[in-house]
Amino acid sequence: MNQGYSYQSTLAASQGTPWRIEDIIGGDKRLDFSKPFMPENLARVEPLTFLNRDEKVTLNQIRGNAYLCIFGLVEEFILPFVIDHARPQLQPDDYRTRALLQFASEEAKHIQLFKRFRREFEEGFGTECQVIGPPEAIAQEILRHDPLGVALTTLHIEWMVQRHYVDSIKDDQQLDPQFKSLLKHHWIEEVQHAKLDTLMVESLAAGRSEEERMRAVEEYLEIGGFIDGGLKQQVEFDLDSFERATARVLTNEEKEQFRQAQLQANRWSYLGSGMTHERVLETLESLTPKARQRIEGVSPMFC
Ligand SMILES: [Fe+2]
Ligand SMILES: [Fe+2]
Repeated sequence: MNQGYSYQSTLAASQGTPWRIEDIIGGDKRLDFSKPFMPENLARVEPLTFLNRDEKVTLNQIRGNAYLCIFGLVEEFILPFVIDHARPQLQPDDYRTRALLQFASEEAKHIQLFKRFRREFEEGFGTECQVIGPPEAIAQEILRHDPLGVALTTLHIEWMVQRHYVDSIKDDQQLDPQFKSLLKHHWIEEVQHAKLDTLMVESLAAGRSEEERMRAVEEYLEIGGFIDGGLKQQVEFDLDSFERATARVLTNEEKEQFRQAQLQANRWSYLGSGMTHERVLETLESLTPKARQRIEGVSPMFC
């Protein structure tokens, strides 16, 4: 079930690639606002043919800022979740304790990294962009669910980061180098988290019946529905930020096209790209083949 991952090997791998926030941003490392921040596969600004080149870059950057915010939000629930998962069994396995604390420590660093980039964005972009939140309220809502449902959500998020980088970011030469560096450094550490999440899912599922496992899968979907509601709100915020940043007023028809294309872009970025990741599907299948089928039944809506 655990795909050959172990606490000892993930701990060893994570210790080989340390980086500091100040290696990535600050001093002469600044965002270049003439360049896009997000790959087109996630931003999907090109279908909005009524926007000119500069307007597309502006919308792309607004989406980049929202990416910082949304990752900030999800990492704020992952951090307490991992600590709570580590806490009851500190004794028997030293590697487990150290690997999970390393995971938590890296997420705390990522939260700070995303905040640092958001400050940099606010200083350079020139227009205030509203984002969903507050993080504590969103974390509280997610964490009230079955821990196995929360662990599946975390697993989804970690593999999603892998997919974003490998499929869309790594070979994109148009992106702002600093933003790309943020995405790359985040990706490097997240791969060990994805493996640890697989182990967390395994331990939380142990001893549960198929019915109990499927209940947790429904909770994972419920959390996905909650995130989807947040994405709908974020699209409205992005539309408003876009009009203020470009001083352009879109027609009703253009607004509708914007909403449709951008909601689907957000759904793909944060839901579909995780739900359809092969490693996520494998872990679901290891719970019960019904779990994989259930998710494969709903995922097309988010792609
Ligand atoms: Fe992270
Ligand atoms: Fe992570």
